[in-house]
This record gives sequence, C-alpha cells and structure tokens, in this order.
Amino acid sequence: MTIDEMRRELQGRLKKSRFAHSIGVANTAVKLAKKFGVDEQKAYIAGLLHDCAREFENEDLQAEAIKRGIIIGEVEISAPLLLHAYIGAQMVTEIYGVDDKEIIQAIYRHTVGAKNMSALDKIIYFADMIEPNRNYPGVDKLRELADKSNNLDEIILTALSESIIFVVQKNALVHPATIDARNFLLLSKENPKMMYPFLTLNDDTEIVHSEILPDNSVKVYVETPDSKDGFHHMTVYLPDYRIEEIYRYTQQEVEKYLEIIRSTAHLIIRFARGGGFENAPDF
Ligand SMILES: [Fe+2]
Ligand SMILES: [Fe+2]
Repeated sequence: MTIDEMRRELQGRLKKSRFAHSIGVANTAVKLAKKFGVDEQKAYIAGLLHDCAREFENEDLQAEAIKRGIIIGEVEISAPLLLHAYIGAQMVTEIYGVDDKEIIQAIYRHTVGAKNMSALDKIIYFADMIEPNRNYPGVDKLRELADKSNNLDEIILTALSESIIFVVQKNALVHPATIDARNFLLLSKENPKMMYPFLTLNDDTEIVHSEILPDNSVKVYVETPDSKDGFHHMTVYLPDYRIEEIYRYTQQEVEKYLEIIRSTAHLIIRFARGGGFENAPDF
C-alpha cells in the first residue's frame, strides 16, 4: 500500500477525532525523526498507523486478542485498552502490508513502552503524548522539552515518569514494561556505556561496540560518512542481531555490514567483555 492508500484506509476505519490524532502523531514523529536522525518515512508510517486497532471497544479488544493468540497479562485484563497496541502491531501487516520490524515494534510498544527502546519506539511513544490535538495538564511542558532538548533519552525519561505519575494519581495499575523502560534509561545514565572502536572499512565506515549492557547484550553501531547528507548509520544488538535502527543505508549495504558483524561477532563480544580491543586480555 502507498502512504496515501494507508491514510484513506485508516480514515474509513477510525472515528474522526482518532484519525486526526493519528495524523498529528505521524507529523510530530517526522519532526522528531528529523531532529534525532531516525528514518522519517518509518516514523510517519508508525505514527499514522499506531492506533489502527482503536476501532475496537474494550470487550472487542479482549475477544480480538484471544482470537489472535495474544497473551493477556494481569494488567491488560484490568485495562483492556492497552491491547490495541499489540493487536495494532499485527494489523499493520495484515491490512496495510507493513512488514518492517522496526515499525511493528514501535506500534507494539507505543502505549506502555519497553526495556531498551529503539529510537523509533521512543519517538512514537513521545509523539503520541504531545501531538497537537493532545490537551491535558502538563502537555505544554513536554512540548517545550521536545523543542529544547537534544537528548532523546532525557525527553523519554521525563515522559515515562510523567505517565507513571499520572497513572498512580488515578490509582490505576502501572504496567511493568513502563517501569522497565524507565529503570533501563536510569541505569544506562548512571553507567554510561563507552563505545569502543572495532573496525574501519575501506569506505571509511566505522564499526564501534559497547561494553556488555545491563541485559547482557552488546550494542554495535555502524556509521558511514556521506558527502551529500552527513552520516548513514545503523545499530544492531548482539547476540540476537536485533536491529534497533537503520538510517539511509540501502538493503544491500545493511546486508553487507550485517555479514561483517556476523563473521566477527565472537570477537566483538570478547572485546565487549574486556573493555575494547585495546584492553582485551590475551589478544
Ligand atoms: Fe494508542
Ligand atoms: Fe495514540
């Protein structure tokens, strides 16, 4: 489906105000994507479609989740509305033909967040909170923060804290994923992880990696200077090769760099344990 077709399909599916909200999130997400070097088209599509399952009311959400084999946790039993994120993450593929894993994940995580969120996850989560149609006490402070801050983690940390405070004040349940998301950010702030140089390729591409992260993964960051538009980059986590973000690489380039990472992953993990190549013992 083209983006135009997606918009038309969605408009027929959602009530007017929900559709306006979706457009607001898409546009806000693109602005944030521009600012933080995230793929703008993915941000638009994820923002546009994030609430595509909001056509269902509470009882229907539960039935729909059961039908789809989605596990309904304790918190979701009490707050079935949360299920629209997980159902939406399936519907984007079924109805809109979106098979991009980053977009699907951002939609899945948009309501309660998650541990170790990708930049796209964060942008959609936050755009959902501040798009122009939103109106609640404190929204202007978040909008201001988005304008002022150049640190996406700082923005998201505030957003997660605000949403936890809001839920607690309502005397409602806090979803554990929101706590995980916030704890993960605070822990990584307390222990800023160094990035260590690993390889420089003939085309000036740099591959760097982190130490072992709190969840036992290793972040690998690939960056290629481009004379026309700055840097192209991608982030991959070992050991499961989870791609966090890809910015302006072609599919072919992604494959090429993944292959290099695959063939050297054993070394990267070893250096991650030992504080980088330069400090690696017995090498
Ligand atoms: Fe939503
Ligand atoms: Fe939303």
